[in-house]
Amino acid sequence: MDGKQKSRCGRFSSTHWYNNTFRSVFFAITLSVFCVTMFLFSTVFSGYYDYVMLTVRHISQEKIPSIIAHEKANHSMKTIYLHTSPFYWNSINFDGCEENRCELITKPGSLNSSDCVVFHFKVNMDNKNIPSKPRGQVWVFYAREAPPRTLTYPHWHNLVNWTFTLRRDSDFLMPYGRLFQRPKPVSLDFSKIIQRKSKGVAAMIGNCHTESLRDQYINLFEQYREVDIYGSCGKGSVNISQRHSLLNETYKYYLSFENSLCRDYITEKAFDMYSFVTVPIVRGGALYDLYFPPGSYINTNDFSTVKELADHLKFLDSNPEAYSSYFKSRNYFGSKLFTKNKLSENNILCDLCKRLHNPKKYVRLYNNFQTWWNSEDIKKLHPSKFDAAWKNYTVHCKPPTDLH
Ligand SMILES: *[C@@H]1O[C@H](CO)[C@@H](O)[C@H](O)[C@H]1NC(C)=O
Ligand SMILES: *[C@@H]1O[C@H](CO)[C@@H](O)[C@H](O)[C@H]1NC(C)=O
Ligand SMILES: *[C@@H]1O[C@H](CO)[C@@H](O)[C@H](O)[C@H]1NC(C)=O
Ligand SMILES: *[C@@H]1O[C@H](CO)[C@@H](O)[C@H](O)[C@H]1NC(C)=O
Ligand SMILES: *[C@@H]1O[C@H](CO)[C@@H](O)[C@H](O)[C@H]1NC(C)=O
Ligand SMILES: *[C@@H]1O[C@H](CO)[C@@H](O)[C@H](O)[C@H]1NC(C)=O
Repeated sequence: MDGKQKSRCGRFSSTHWYNNTFRSVFFAITLSVFCVTMFLFSTVFSGYYDYVMLTVRHISQEKIPSIIAHEKANHSMKTIYLHTSPFYWNSINFDGCEENRCELITKPGSLNSSDCVVFHFKVNMDNKNIPSKPRGQVWVFYAREAPPRTLTYPHWHNLVNWTFTLRRDSDFLMPYGRLFQRPKPVSLDFSKIIQRKSKGVAAMIGNCHTESLRDQYINLFEQYREVDIYGSCGKGSVNISQRHSLLNETYKYYLSFENSLCRDYITEKAFDMYSFVTVPIVRGGALYDLYFPPGSYINTNDFSTVKELADHLKFLDSNPEAYSSYFKSRNYFGSKLFTKNKLSENNILCDLCKRLHNPKKYVRLYNNFQTWWNSEDIKKLHPSKFDAAWKNYTVHCKPPTDLH
């Protein structure tokens, strides 16, 4: 039998070889053409920030009945312990989630009996009191700040399963906000508001000394252009209604300068400006085109000197059409903030619950958590002076190089 089959194979092998090769080559070419087409199609037509938008999941509109008491006794209920209050998730439940068999607990001492523990960097992610981790428990790292404003974590190797941050490579992505596509484009006419605007550049700043040295950048910029600084680092605070009217009616530009120049680190300072008739001038470490329509904001990074930025604003002053063009995309996109305890966060918690019910599918462990979050340079990260820290701080954040 074997012999016969072999000889049969032998007889046909060259034709087979030819056919197979031809088929493979044909298949490969077709596949490549298909992939390239899809790639072009997706980059050209799908907009720039789809990655960010797609990663944020939505809960279904249909209301799912909330958890009933007897279900809580069922082992299929997953418990999520918020390690050490204050933690602002307390009021959130899983109603409305597709998978709602989860419960948040804050009762001290519940760590050992919970399925999942969420560590909030500020409150309890220190390196001295790391609790022991029961077998199979899922540990989640949660942070909203940039790495220079958290601790470093040299002793958290092989403990963290999932991350919940604004970094796009987190397991759960929680940016400070996002732009959403309007169901139908609108035609907004801001021309009257724009004409009435009486002042140029505003900033609202509470942290005066930051890793990004934004105060120094602003000092340089003020040599060419006046900046009105509100908040504790300037003229003092304004209330919400004053803030709305300053941004909407008075100022043409707002300095959305981040406190650190870190990967993906964009805060409400930028997202929120899309709710006002003002142009954000951004300065940060993220790829802004992933988050905002190109042409809808000014990026300091696009200018080689502070003076060039000032010159660009001067150009816009005398070209109202060019200035107005920054608002074009507002017809297509609106913006939403992900505030700390609103339902928006719940969407991501739905995902957490779903994954807890499928732990095998989402198994992960950060073997060197510090490298992932902070950088390779462990001890050099947190010297007392910011300036010194930057010198060796290269991985996820960068020092300012634009102070000229
Ligand atoms: C636990 O919940 C699952 C899914 O909701 C259900 O199939 C099972 O019968 C419940 N078990 C008990 C003991 O209630
Ligand atoms: C949790 O378990 C660890 C190890 O078994 C034990 O040392 C610790 O006291 C327990 N914590 C609580 C709050 O029960
Ligand atoms: C905000 O401040 C202005 C000016 O001080 C005041 O007139 C106004 O009543 C305040 N509004 C609110 C909502 O507090
Ligand atoms: C700012 O003005 C625009 C246009 O009039 C308006 O749609 C928007 O609601 C205002 N925003 C705030 C926060 O008042
Ligand atoms: C979480 O980490 C532990 C090891 O500490 C591991 O046994 C478990 O499978 C991990 N779970 C998930 C869902 O990644
Ligand atoms: C940065 O690294 C270099 C070389 O490793 C070292 O000489 C220097 O002291 C470091 N600087 C800081 C601020 O840690």
